[in-house]
Amino acid sequence: MSQSLNQSMSPTVSPTMNENLTETETETETVTPAANGAVLSAQNVEKSFQLDDLHIDVLNDISLQVKQGEFVAIMGKSGSGKSTLLSLLAGLDQPTKGLITLNGDDLTQMSEEELALKRQADIGFVFQSFHLIPTLTVQENIEFPLTIARRSDSERVKELIDAVELTHRTGSFPHQLSGGEKQRTAIARALVANPKILFADEPTGNLDEKNADQVMQLLLSLQKAFNTALVIVTHDPGLAKLADRTITIVDGQLL
Ligand SMILES: Nc1ncnc2c1ncn2[C@@H]1O[C@H](COP(=O)(O)OP(=O)(O)O)[C@@H](O)[C@H]1O
Ligand SMILES: [Mg+2]
Repeated sequence: MSQSLNQSMSPTVSPTMNENLTETETETETVTPAANGAVLSAQNVEKSFQLDDLHIDVLNDISLQVKQGEFVAIMGKSGSGKSTLLSLLAGLDQPTKGLITLNGDDLTQMSEEELALKRQADIGFVFQSFHLIPTLTVQENIEFPLTIARRSDSERVKELIDAVELTHRTGSFPHQLSGGEKQRTAIARALVANPKILFADEPTGNLDEKNADQVMQLLLSLQKAFNTALVIVTHDPGLAKLADRTITIVDGQLL
């Protein structure tokens, strides 16, 4: 199993763009917010990148809503724009055009600092390659979102550690864990601050079948237990069947 432990990124830190690429200028556009009780609403979202003379349109006119507690699966071929869409919806990057409202707040009007606070408060993210901090133990990784928010809640941390069945591994470091244990740590970390919505980008992509099944079942049971909205990018049609709704993306557009 090849997995990078060098990618020590907290869920509240934006991923670094390729250095040769700059985003095209963000245009602000007045669009009527249409949250309608949805926890997440995207309206006419576009994303493009500028690479020297090359203009790349990745997402085109994406509109969608996710309700509280809803489980939405996103499917689509490699390169269709799934990860780009997820990073916009989770406030890890800004769209070129359009509006993204999360729990009533427009992410596209926020500064980097405001977005970081919003992610701490309302958003959990699970990456395919775990993104645990290698120098922190399982317990410290799970606590990390609270630590950087200068909060502590040992009961909540213990609840999550027990829920992901890592009670016996709290003092272990990521390099001592199996892939499944790493992803279970990452799931607990994503949920520790009780987010409104949890995003997962191919969360079982680096796991064998047995661990993948366990991680998926865990994600679904925690989503139900905490009534968290769940948006998962997946290639697994079996998983998509379990979702309340499946969204398919083709060449940067929703079907
Ligand atoms: N920072 C970037 N700069 C330029 N192109 C990008 C960037 N991020 C993604 N892309 C391009 O956007 C397209 C969709 O990528 P991605 O969202 O990762 O697809 P998926 O997750 O569906 O495989 C790809 O063609 C990819 O090369
Ligand atoms: Mg992807």
